[in-house]
Order: sequence, then C-alpha cells, then structure tokens
Amino acid sequence: MAIREILQIPHPMLRQRAKRVRAINDSVLRLAYDMVDTMRDANGVGLAANQVSELWRVVVIQLPDEDDARIYINPEITLREGERRVEEGCLSIAGYKGFVTRSAWIRFRALDHTAKTVKLRAEDTLSQAMEHEVDHLNGILYTDHMEAHEKLIKVVEEDESAPEPDDADAAQDDDTAATNGTDADDTPQASHASESGLWLPEQDSRNTPATLKLK
Ligand code: NI
Repeated sequence: MAIREILQIPHPMLRQRAKRVRAINDSVLRLAYDMVDTMRDANGVGLAANQVSELWRVVVIQLPDEDDARIYINPEITLREGERRVEEGCLSIAGYKGFVTRSAWIRFRALDHTAKTVKLRAEDTLSQAMEHEVDHLNGILYTDHMEAHEKLIKVVEEDESAPEPDDADAAQDDDTAATNGTDADDTPQASHASESGLWLPEQDSRNTPATLKLK
C-alpha cells in the first residue's frame, strides 16, 4: 500500500461531491488501504477520498482506542440527534483547529471492505468523525460550520515553526468560497444544509496542549 498526497485548501477537489461506489473491486480496496496508510502517517483520525484526489464515497476512520482502522464505503447518516460543541481539525486545513456544533449522536449505514452492510449507532469520536468525513464527500469542510473564520485557532507546534501567515489567508479565502458555494444545496441526501459532521483530532491537534480533547 502507499501513502498518498493529502490535498490542502483551497484545492477545488475538496469542494466537489464524491460519487457512489458501484462495485467494491480491487481498485476501490487499494484506494481504501492507501487511505488508511495515509491517515496513519499523518496521525489523523479520519480521511475522505476527496482528500487524496479521488472522488469516490470512501472514508476511513482510526479511533484512538482501536487497533484496526474502519473502512466505510458509501456511508450515509440516517439519523442525527442532539447537539454538542466540539473542537475539530482537518488534515486538509493543516495548522488550524476550531469549534463547531456536531450531533450528540448519529446512526449511519455503509458498506465495509467486504461489501457487507453495516448499520451503527455512533457517539463521541466516531460520530464526530463520521459527520466530518461525510461532509468531505459532499464538498463541505468543518470551517463551513463555524460562525466566523476569524475564530480559527492556529495550532502551535512544539517542535515545528508556526504556519506561515499565508495559511491564514488561505483559510479565510476558503471560508468565503464556502459561503458563496452551492455544494450543500446540491446534496440530495442532506437533511439540511449542514448535514455533516466532524473531523478529528489530527496530528497537529494532538501535539497541542491541554485544551485539545478528542471528543
Ligand atoms: Ni477533514
């Protein structure tokens, strides 16, 4: 398997809607396993295919307390209940984090890597991650759920220099684009404009001090 390049904002592919997978063949599985390797290499909790330049509805999730990564194909969130404020980051918006409102818990269904249908009730990190990754498949980023992009928090790394100011500009530009975009409205499965969910504590976030919680 291989580690693939993770696209960064404002790459247009991050704003496109991924297509349903028709058949779980070798190329789909290769993509999924590459995504697992890529996510683990970046210390991420989740990754959507858009982020590695593939517009297929494939997501992978690695929960911090689990050894095996989860592969979900054509995931659909079928129920969202409650609200909670959570901190999020994204491997495609490196160096930043922010607070968004996510569901307290969800139900979702998907195909796993063996093409078996799974239906699960998810809470905590899995719920947040699934909402975040399904958003990616619909061209939505967590920053779209923020009240203002000015509230993006720059992640300070202990062993690396801080992101360049250009990154902040890019993040704000991306927000503007999101506000003007119509991606969410084009989403048939979306029950409302902000159908998605979360993100995950990714590498950058995990290296930061105390305030960062995965849930
Ligand atoms: Ni993300």
